[in-house]
Amino acid sequence: MQQLTNLIEMRAWRHAQRQRVALVPTMGNLHDGHLRLVETAKQHAEVVVVSIFVNPLQFGANEDLDAYPRTLAADCEKLKAAGVDAVFTPTVADMYPRGLMQQTTVNVPEISDILCGASRPGHFRGVATIVCKLFNMVQPDVAVFGRKDYQQLQVIRLMVEDLSLAVEIIGAETVRDASGLALSSRNGYLHNNQQRQARQIYQTLRQLADALHQGKSHQIVEQQGQQLLQSAGFRTDYVAVRRASDLQTPQAADRELVILIAAYIGSTRLIDNYRVDLA
Ligand code: PAJ
Repeated sequence: MQQLTNLIEMRAWRHAQRQRVALVPTMGNLHDGHLRLVETAKQHAEVVVVSIFVNPLQFGANEDLDAYPRTLAADCEKLKAAGVDAVFTPTVADMYPRGLMQQTTVNVPEISDILCGASRPGHFRGVATIVCKLFNMVQPDVAVFGRKDYQQLQVIRLMVEDLSLAVEIIGAETVRDASGLALSSRNGYLHNNQQRQARQIYQTLRQLADALHQGKSHQIVEQQGQQLLQSAGFRTDYVAVRRASDLQTPQAADRELVILIAAYIGSTRLIDNYRVDLA
């Protein structure tokens, strides 16, 4: 596996590739969810490159940028074992040569300001900007993202459409542990009993999906979700039933929905979602 530590190495490596290249962008601390993206990437291209970069532009002032787990040696072992061709590990100075305040940014309007964007102002501007930069640096034919971060995936799809970027975007299914908890680097912040509590998010999503299938309105289902999570000891950020395509409030005729949850256990913020396709 090639280790590319700066943009010059990245460009030289890319120039030498003759086959289709897939990019899997990550912030490291890799788990089986990330490795699923690698497997999906292999199905869509002959060559797979994974980027690892903890992107300061997408973290708010009071968020966990400094505490975010950095485990590069272990990550590289996992990627090597998964048969990845190259890992790209740029520095903050490589990515933001003029500094964060001077950075030209990419903003995808409307979808970036709701749900996670409402509680994390500037987050999706940071995500869209770094993903756009990675696309320009790596010039992949395909890029793979997890449905676990559903809003992020839709922001990226809209950016690609709006800016006519020549990258095919693939969404990969959420990987969960045996209890249903979606794998996340932030699960590492949870103690044992908090991990047990965290499982309730997926249980709640499934209950709410059943309620939608039974014909309950999205307002009733959202209220039910708030109650279930509050009684399980969460501080909820949002429980929302939205149209799957653009995450706007569903109209009566909309059949393709997604239920999204963001909730805190202590200071750890967890997100998850569940697709519901009504008959
Ligand atoms: P990170 O949180 O490291 O996630 C990298 C990719 O892995 C994302 O596409 C995310 O949706 C996916 N992922 C995480 N947990 C998953 C799970 N349990 N199942 C399936 N996929 C999962 O998301 C980011 O990094 C950053 O915002 C990034 C896109 C790299 C831009 O900085």
